[in-house]
Amino acid sequence: MAMFFKKKQKKEFEVDYNNIPEHIAIIMDGNGRWAKKRALPRSAGHAAGAKTLDKIVRFAESIGVKYVTVYAFSTENWKRPKAEVDALMRLMIDYLDDYKRVLGGENIRIKIIGRREELSDEINEKINIVENATKDNDKITLTLAVNYGGREEITYAAGKIAQKVKNGELGADDITEETFAKELYTNYLPEPDLIIRPSGELRLSNFLLWQSAYSEFWFSDICWPDFSKDDLLKAISDFQHRNRRFGGV
Ligand code: IPE
Ligand code: IPE
Ligand code: MG
Repeated sequence: MAMFFKKKQKKEFEVDYNNIPEHIAIIMDGNGRWAKKRALPRSAGHAAGAKTLDKIVRFAESIGVKYVTVYAFSTENWKRPKAEVDALMRLMIDYLDDYKRVLGGENIRIKIIGRREELSDEINEKINIVENATKDNDKITLTLAVNYGGREEITYAAGKIAQKVKNGELGADDITEETFAKELYTNYLPEPDLIIRPSGELRLSNFLLWQSAYSEFWFSDICWPDFSKDDLLKAISDFQHRNRRFGGV
């Protein structure tokens, strides 16, 4: 009698290390579900997600990614229970306090995008310290989107343009895609080549609406705390097989 054994196969994928996307953006989703599966509080999922971020940023740096932008807290996330919002803000403070140890410090420039007004004085102070302390680091730029919403960003930019026109600094005819993009929080960043969303949701949830016009998307069912280096390589490998046309042929 013939016996057939099904050998568990490791999925193989090839990565061209000479063609690594310059800018990868990640919607760090699924922390809550990760915690629920383990009967842990949601805050434990967020803490685990922060550890995953460190691992992925260090790894991204090691393979030559120049910019990583992550969605950490949206303008809509204030709708969550106060205890969860407080835990997320506490985590943000710890992250900003600890960035040198957890991220190795030296080579990473850290930037924060989003509306500062609703963030506490303590967080604002720490943001200024970290941005200032890391501003000359040039190996990789890690941007944390905190109290960030794409619509808020675009509305805010429109307000700044209107003010410039009012002051006579800019004519109405000078408003182009380029002048507009200069008023966005992301004016120091190239547009994301690849946007990754784990956790099984297939939406942008108000992330980088303007900047994602020609980004490639990669989705996976893995919850963010479980996201591995191999998952990043798989996303990059898939990205390298896409045909980006930007509207051309
Ligand atoms: C993402 O994980 C983190 C934030 C939105 C702050 P979630 O907390 O949204 O996790 P799920 O989607 O409920 O699993
Ligand atoms: C998007 O995730 C925001 C962050 C990951 C920070 P959400 O969990 O808030 O998005 P929805 O509610 O599923 O669209
Ligand atoms: Mg979510």
